[in-house]
Amino acid sequence: MRTLIKNALKSETAQDPITIKGWVRTRRDNKEFSFLELNDGTSLANIQCIADAGIPGYQDISKMSTGAAIGITGKLVESPGKGQKWEIHATSIELIGEAPSDYPLQKKGHTPEFLRSISHLRPRANLYGAVFRMRSRMAQAIHRFFNEKDFTYVHTPVITASDCEGAGEMFRVTTQDPTLPKAQKPEDDFFNKPTYLTVSGQLEGEAFATALSNIYTFGPTFRAENSNTTRHANEFWMIEPEMAFCDLEGDMDLAEEFVKFLIKDVLENNEGDLEIFNKFVDKGLIERLKFVAEKPFQRVSYTEAVDILIASGKTFEYPVSWGVNLQSEHERYLTEEHFKCPTTVYNYPKEVKPFYMRINDDGKTVAAMDLLVPGIGEIVGGAQREERLDILQANMKQHNLSEEDYWWYTDLRKYGTCPHAGFGLGFERMIMFATGMKNIRDVIPFARTPGSCEF
Ligand code: 4AD
Ligand code: MG
Repeated sequence: MRTLIKNALKSETAQDPITIKGWVRTRRDNKEFSFLELNDGTSLANIQCIADAGIPGYQDISKMSTGAAIGITGKLVESPGKGQKWEIHATSIELIGEAPSDYPLQKKGHTPEFLRSISHLRPRANLYGAVFRMRSRMAQAIHRFFNEKDFTYVHTPVITASDCEGAGEMFRVTTQDPTLPKAQKPEDDFFNKPTYLTVSGQLEGEAFATALSNIYTFGPTFRAENSNTTRHANEFWMIEPEMAFCDLEGDMDLAEEFVKFLIKDVLENNEGDLEIFNKFVDKGLIERLKFVAEKPFQRVSYTEAVDILIASGKTFEYPVSWGVNLQSEHERYLTEEHFKCPTTVYNYPKEVKPFYMRINDDGKTVAAMDLLVPGIGEIVGGAQREERLDILQANMKQHNLSEEDYWWYTDLRKYGTCPHAGFGLGFERMIMFATGMKNIRDVIPFARTPGSCEF
């Protein structure tokens, strides 16, 4: 049976025989033996193998070049070399799939841009293997967090007729033939109405929270925004908890606890991967993550945040005044220069936020909150929801939403309405924060961004 390299490297005792399979990272030949480093993607570390000339399979050694898939059977013995505990002395070696000399990952030090152009081979590069192992572990930590708190996991639909965020940034879903000359009506389309890929599972999440109390969703969301930034993707994953009988305060508490939990979890479990990020991506990473895990976050109202930004005397590209939406440069000033720690900003002007947020008693602000982190800006956006039917209806009118389309959403207020709140954490932004990776394209296996849908 095959042993994963990760487990072979963690072995407590010598083993004989052992079989490993993976891809050649390097090979050096001597007269009497060859020296190979093999990686199977289960951990950052390669395992070193010594293959004596003449063992079965050795006749193919010249084809076992960088990138080739091979199998090795042999003895796992203590390594005299520095830096690794175990190595393998092969008794047989097998060429499984060769990699000709045009294999693109020959050398180290490729640029992120080049690696994006070969996203299908990119996970074989050390750094990206680490990123995607981390992504997997964080996804599981997310389920663990909510499971331990008795939240029910709900699968909300990917195809929807409603625009949750009201920003009109939706991809149409249609089976209508655009080449037909006759105008086709949405009523004649597949679902008898215009349909889209969802921008958020929140509205459906609210239906489940007002039945099962505490729920979360974790799935892909889609936004047709044409913003070519390092923090926006057109397809990204979001975690959206929703809690019944909860207000903004409880919502902010959960968001902060959640972010801290995820950071603590990677600090405890992903030491090896974090070291590579700390070394090659962001020298201050581990120190910053420890700080985030241990120190309390800051909390300020939008109004206080605007005062701080104005008092800073800084010239921003987008000037600040009460009523404007905060831009990434403002968010970064608050977390990186002013507070120097993650910061939750709450009670935003109602004009800059979607229809579902609860209007505060001042009539001007809504019970919204954004959690901002250094280096990225917003990673969480959430709110207490408007639970009062008449006020929600008035809000919807102001946002030009037809009540007919959202009849089921207003029903949640008609029957057994209750205060409830939730938020969305952008999964990729969280991974960027935890790895120090600077571009969202580099933490998504196959990124979808404007003008780019290869792979
Ligand atoms: O602030 P947003 O738009 O909030 C919502 O969608 C709410 N319905 C969530 C809720 O209350 N249940 O998005 C939430 C988070 C943002 O803070 C950001 O981290 C991420 O989703 N996000 C994006 N991530 C990558 N690419 C994009 N284009 C993103 N847009 C939002
Ligand atoms: Mg937002």
